[in-house]
Amino acid sequence: MHQRNQIRPPRIWTVLLFLGVGLFIFALAVFASPAQAAPSYQGDKPGNDFCLACHQEEGKTLTLGSEELPVTINPTQFGLSVHSEEGIACVDCHTNISDYPHPDVKEKSTRAFSLAYSETCKDCHEDQYSKTHDSVHQAAMDAGNENAPICSDCHNPHTQTRLIGQESGLLTISARRDVPATCAKCHTETYDTYKNSVHGSALADGNTDVPTCTDCHGVHNISDPTTASFRNNTPALCSDCHDNPEIMDKYGISTKVTETYVADFHGTTVTLFEKEFPGQETNKAVCTDCHGVHDIARVDNPETGIALRENLLIKCQRCHPDATANFSDAWMSHYEPSPEHNPLVYYVNLFYMFFIPAVLGGMIFFILTDIYRRIVNNSKKGTKHS
Ligand code: HEC
Ligand code: HEC
Ligand code: HEC
Ligand code: HEC
Ligand code: HEC
Ligand code: HEC
Ligand code: HEC
Ligand code: HEC
Ligand code: HEC
Repeated sequence: MHQRNQIRPPRIWTVLLFLGVGLFIFALAVFASPAQAAPSYQGDKPGNDFCLACHQEEGKTLTLGSEELPVTINPTQFGLSVHSEEGIACVDCHTNISDYPHPDVKEKSTRAFSLAYSETCKDCHEDQYSKTHDSVHQAAMDAGNENAPICSDCHNPHTQTRLIGQESGLLTISARRDVPATCAKCHTETYDTYKNSVHGSALADGNTDVPTCTDCHGVHNISDPTTASFRNNTPALCSDCHDNPEIMDKYGISTKVTETYVADFHGTTVTLFEKEFPGQETNKAVCTDCHGVHDIARVDNPETGIALRENLLIKCQRCHPDATANFSDAWMSHYEPSPEHNPLVYYVNLFYMFFIPAVLGGMIFFILTDIYRRIVNNSKKGTKHS
């Protein structure tokens, strides 16, 4: 009993001490917690460390109407980005933020938030920004389609790596390979078709000679591909590569495809037509009417290849609905006439090759001998008179 009475007062002090320490730790935890009190910074503007102290934490979100936008920024990924490499700081883009709490955000959806930030890039990338003005995507946006892409849909500002090689000045191999996936975010169907085409499958295997979406459509200034001028320009689009022996010799593909196309009845009329009426759509066949667009296959592909008459006939029938089995033979093919391909044309050409020089040569020979005879006769007459 006695002993118990003696230790009572220190007990109260112990409790108080524990309470005090507890309170102090609690206060420390509360006030030092980054979500509540901003870490301080030196200098006139906060560095990335200041922002990342909070933003590298997982699980924080920004509430936008009924949506939650995660606000975690991965410092490693950001460190590898082109912007970080170039010394662009968080606050160079987020010019409205210098402390915490941040200014209120008015937007009520994640899309509205992205759209509100979409002008950020303009300050440093005026060139790309101004190109987008005339694009189909901007036109869709202006017509009220908020799903049309803005810069950050195709380039995450926090993780974007270099696209253009610093030494080569050209699109890097990996950037080129990634292009279709960028467009696939929205154009899933087109992407799935392209992926299996002769061009798309080669790209996936690392071939950088084949066209990606942006070689045919452009990038920031994508124009409407359904217009007359786009259609009339198709042969030029394909011949950019297909007439180039530096590319095509590697694959053993003929570089005469445009020349032979232009020489045929469709090509001749399209070429003439284009000169006369550049803005009017041609109804004659262009490259893509026979070969397809996003689904171009090898011509000897056993299933869809158009070297097979039946497959080619289907293409002709779109415009010549009454065409029957032999009709597709009327396409003289891209081959230059040879004893194997178009022997008739080949031999007729050959015939003229000898016939015309023979006839002309004969005539010239005749004329020359005639002149000679006259000169000789004249001089004979001259000697007689003198
Ligand atoms: C103390 C912690 C903290 C610091 C420091 C901090 N943030 Fe934030 N930030 C948050 C939190 C939490 C949110 C989520 C929304 C909210 O609570 O305001 C957020 C939201 C954001 C957003 C989206 C909303 C908006 O206002 O646009 C951006 C952008 C942002 N922070 C950028 C920055 C930048 C840049 C810095 C450095 C200058 C920074 N933050 C410093 C905690 C912080
Ligand atoms: C090159 C410009 C740029 C830089 C540098 C940049 N941001 Fe951003 N940030 C943006 C844009 C643009 C958005 C809007 C993105 C969108 O469309 O959703 C954004 C969005 C955010 C958001 C909202 C969540 C999200 O991911 O959309 C946070 C948080 C944020 N930035 C923090 C930071 C921090 C922290 C840094 C530095 C480590 C930083 N940003 C560097 C341009 C930038
Ligand atoms: C404060 C200036 C600044 C802002 C704002 C900015 N950038 Fe950049 N960005 C740069 C610099 C500097 C480079 C380095 C390469 C260059 O000079 O183009 C770069 C590079 C890039 C590249 C890679 C280019 C290449 O040649 O490989 C892309 C893509 C890019 N930025 C997109 C964006 C987007 C999208 C935004 C808006 C969200 C944005 N940038 C905002 C300064 C900026
Ligand atoms: C529809 C997707 C898309 C949109 C939207 C987009 N880009 Fe690009 N951007 C690309 C692709 C893909 C490339 C790679 C170049 C190529 O394929 O030729 C690229 C290249 C770039 C480059 C490297 C230099 C160059 O011109 O090739 C910069 C810088 C750039 N974009 C900035 C921007 C800015 C700023 C915006 C907004 C105004 C923007 N981009 C909008 C897809 C897009
Ligand atoms: C964020 C979504 C998005 C991304 C990413 C995107 N597009 Fe689009 N694109 C659209 C929308 C929306 C339209 C307009 C509506 C429509 O016609 O489908 C459109 C229209 C087009 C058109 C015109 C279609 C027509 O029928 O006239 C072309 C061509 C096109 N995009 C090409 C591309 C290419 C190439 C890329 C990649 C570099 C790309 N798009 C990336 C959303 C996107
Ligand atoms: C070899 C050139 C070429 C390549 C590569 C290419 N396109 Fe096209 N694209 C065209 C042509 C030509 C048209 C017009 C087709 C027509 O007349 O119907 C077109 C039409 C389109 C259209 C609008 C009509 C439609 O078919 O939906 C979209 C969207 C489109 N392309 C997106 C893409 C995307 C995304 C990629 C990459 C995955 C891509 N294109 C790759 C040449 C190409
Ligand atoms: C950027 C260059 C480029 C452009 C533009 C291009 N091609 Fe190609 N194309 C290639 C290359 C390279 C190959 C060979 C791929 C391989 O064999 O792996 C090829 C293969 C082909 C083949 C298969 C030939 C065979 O082996 O049977 C056809 C058909 C074809 N292209 C048609 C077209 C048409 C039609 C267009 C225009 C709408 C076009 N290409 C635009 C580069 C291009
Ligand atoms: C995109 C539509 C289109 C496709 C596909 C097409 N043609 Fe034609 N073709 C025409 C038009 C239009 C003319 C009329 C040309 C003129 O009168 O100048 C024509 C003319 C011809 C002629 C000249 C004789 C005639 O009937 O006036 C032949 C032969 C011909 N096409 C064969 C073919 C063959 C073979 C194919 C398939 C390999 C084919 N065409 C695919 C549109 C097409
Ligand atoms: C009227 C249909 C038709 C048109 C138009 C057409 N092609 Fe062809 N193309 C064919 C057929 C059929 C073959 C397969 C064998 C042959 O006839 O040469 C072929 C073969 C090819 C090949 C493979 C050549 C090789 O060496 O393996 C390429 C590449 C090609 N065409 C590209 C083009 C381009 C580029 C254009 C437009 C300038 C075009 N084609 C216009 C029907 C057509």
